[in-house]
Amino acid sequence: HAFFKPIQEAAPPSPTKRHTKISVIGAGNVGMAIAQTILTQDLADELVLVDAKPDKLRGEMLDLQHAAAFLPRTKIIASVDYAVTAGSDLCIVTAGARQIAGESRLNLLQRNLTLYSDIIPPLARYSPDTILMIVSNPVDVLTYVAWKLSGFPSNRVIGSGTNLDSSRFRFLIADHLDVNAQDVQAYIVGEHGDSSVALWSSISVGGVPVLSFLEKQEIAYEKVTLEHIHREVIESAYEVIRLKGYTSWAIGYSVANLARAILRDQRRIHAVSVLAKGFYGIDDGEVFLSLPAQLGRGGVLGVTNVHLTDEEAQKLRDSAKTILEYQRQLGI
Ligand code: NAI
Ligand code: LAC
Repeated sequence: HAFFKPIQEAAPPSPTKRHTKISVIGAGNVGMAIAQTILTQDLADELVLVDAKPDKLRGEMLDLQHAAAFLPRTKIIASVDYAVTAGSDLCIVTAGARQIAGESRLNLLQRNLTLYSDIIPPLARYSPDTILMIVSNPVDVLTYVAWKLSGFPSNRVIGSGTNLDSSRFRFLIADHLDVNAQDVQAYIVGEHGDSSVALWSSISVGGVPVLSFLEKQEIAYEKVTLEHIHREVIESAYEVIRLKGYTSWAIGYSVANLARAILRDQRRIHAVSVLAKGFYGIDDGEVFLSLPAQLGRGGVLGVTNVHLTDEEAQKLRDSAKTILEYQRQLGI
């Protein structure tokens, strides 16, 4: 248009500049928390919203567009038609039913399994090279379902898994020790749910293994304290859901953090839901659960070989059995 007079014929975009496109499926509490964080952190050139409710979808799109003066320039579009997702670098799936107070994540499986059969195939068809990031619950089983329905290699199908639980764990340990959560290295692995496993042996604060840190700080080492902290992690979602009806902000930051690691090829290690068969003696079947994995532009670049105590390895196998049992009950 005539508003600007070009000073020279516009040079073509540099070939190395990628146009990054992220699609978020499900414009609910979680999807919009993720979308808002993606915009604030300038993670995409194009953000696509898909949902089953056209009015809500358009309302959320307009509301985000109206913040344009305060955000990095990002093209925001929304539609019930999956064609708008074509060519996505990352597809984040949050569509589905959520728990009511006291309900377990696994209880959502039948409802969300049905809608995944409508969502995953068109996503895979329109973006055959995309990375799928699964968030809907039960996230581990639905990541397995997305892997099967998409036909993608397992490194491009990732569940947000216990990246969120590990963040809650790091917060509670940091709060207990009065340090910054970003200086606490700690992993929760296994099911994103009631059978998750705390890797005590991998916890460090400022590079110091927590057990010796507690001794050095003359904080009486209490296994019960750490176990209580893990119990609090497991109870976290139930408490927040009881209080506000759903969880959204922490998962929003958690998934945006994963999106950054992938799209900016950060090669960061996160506890995310991956195809775990063959790791740590998990051999009973094809199951997705969270292990510390390196993430980059290709998706899952590798699973770390952290040392597990015999007790931790057994709990991980038990978590795998819980998930497999649900998969088998559904005949999937
Ligand atoms: P919500 O009810 O606010 O949003 C769900 C959205 O999905 C709605 O806008 C609905 O219209 C949409 N939807 C339903 N069927 C659809 C379909 N066939 N196609 C497209 N969109 C469809 O629920 P909320 O709070 O956003 O939670 C969404 C999911 O995320 C739930 O399964 C919840 O358990 C899960 N979640 C997972 C977490 C994790 O750590 N993995 C953390 C928090 C929530
Ligand atoms: C969580 C549940 C909802 O916030 O998955 O952990």
